[in-house]
Amino acid sequence: MFFGASEFDITKAQAHNDATKRLSQVVIRVHDLHKYFQVPIRQRGRFSALRSLLVRRHRLVKAVNGVSFQIGRGELVGYLGPNGAGKSTTIKMLTGLLVPTHGEISVNGRIPWKQREEHVKSLGAVFGFRSTLWWDLPVIESLELLRYIYDVPLARFKDNLREFRKILEMDAFINTPVRSLSLGQRVRADVCAALLHDPSLLFLDEPTIGLDVVAKERIRQFILHANRQRGTTVLLTTHDLSDVEKMCQRVMIIDRGKLLYDGQLESLRQRFGGKRELVVELVDEEDQISIEGAIVTSRQGAQVMFQFDRDQISASELIQRISSNYRIRDLSVREPDLEATIRRIYEQRLLEDAV
Ligand SMILES: Nc1ncnc2c1ncn2[C@@H]1O[C@H](COP(=O)(O)OP(=O)(O)O)[C@@H](O)[C@H]1O
Ligand SMILES: [Mg+2]
Repeated sequence: MFFGASEFDITKAQAHNDATKRLSQVVIRVHDLHKYFQVPIRQRGRFSALRSLLVRRHRLVKAVNGVSFQIGRGELVGYLGPNGAGKSTTIKMLTGLLVPTHGEISVNGRIPWKQREEHVKSLGAVFGFRSTLWWDLPVIESLELLRYIYDVPLARFKDNLREFRKILEMDAFINTPVRSLSLGQRVRADVCAALLHDPSLLFLDEPTIGLDVVAKERIRQFILHANRQRGTTVLLTTHDLSDVEKMCQRVMIIDRGKLLYDGQLESLRQRFGGKRELVVELVDEEDQISIEGAIVTSRQGAQVMFQFDRDQISASELIQRISSNYRIRDLSVREPDLEATIRRIYEQRLLEDAV
């Protein structure tokens, strides 16, 4: 077996130093959450349109299929998964846009879809694909309208706007109508809008999708700022691993409606990261190199690449062994990249399902 709920459940994953403290202030509780969609099956062949009018066949899509997790105040959690995994559906239920088929959600003590109005006021939400701003209005007027809707005190609004404008570098397009913004500018305006009313929670669905490197970086800086300086609890979905690497300590991985992993990014690496590599530049070219606990995978002149297992030997121990036999000029440790690690998890899951 790979890992079922019993071997690697959420309680174990969070048995980290700060877990007790964090869990004492849980703000998002999700228990056994399900969302199913009835999707009409397209009929093929002659008279298919007519036939489908007469007999409608449906297929049940289990978009979210028994997901449970808890998020503590002030956490910044990455919700990761391939296309169609169920990320957006989860976020939509958390923001109250969709009603679960089954299961429980409590956010800030409220049931999102039942207490919609109060709920929406307590959170900020950004959907990468879709703007919440008014298409025809200049950005600044859209933001002012939101101030009115959310009833934000003027001084607070001004302070927030000053701060956000600077971090998001919005000056160049603050007077531009939303429809004329580039995608990167539009998402920056949306992220700014989401936090103007000082919500304690921020949900972001693919905030960096389709953005250029610079806009991505601004958005990431801003999310980190909101989380660290303001203590905003953040849940963001992404399929961009560099988002996760740059922002999140904790990740949840979902695939086909089920959580595959919930824990620290670092322990994900340790458990599923595979082999590490050590690249050593020796002072002298050696004929024979052999070190216990590592294998030599390639050599180019005085440069030698070792591969080693993190469970067998630590990097520093390996370096010690090498340096007691050879003279080292330079060295670096390479971690297996996150993408390969996660691919391994998905593949493992596929293998498991095939059995
Ligand atoms: N409104 C809907 N009607 C029918 N199927 C849907 C609907 N929304 C999502 N789905 C299906 O549910 C699954 C999960 O979708 P989604 O949550 O959008 O995934 P993700 O955001 O991880 O890409 C997909 O198979 C998708 O086609
Ligand atoms: Mg999505």
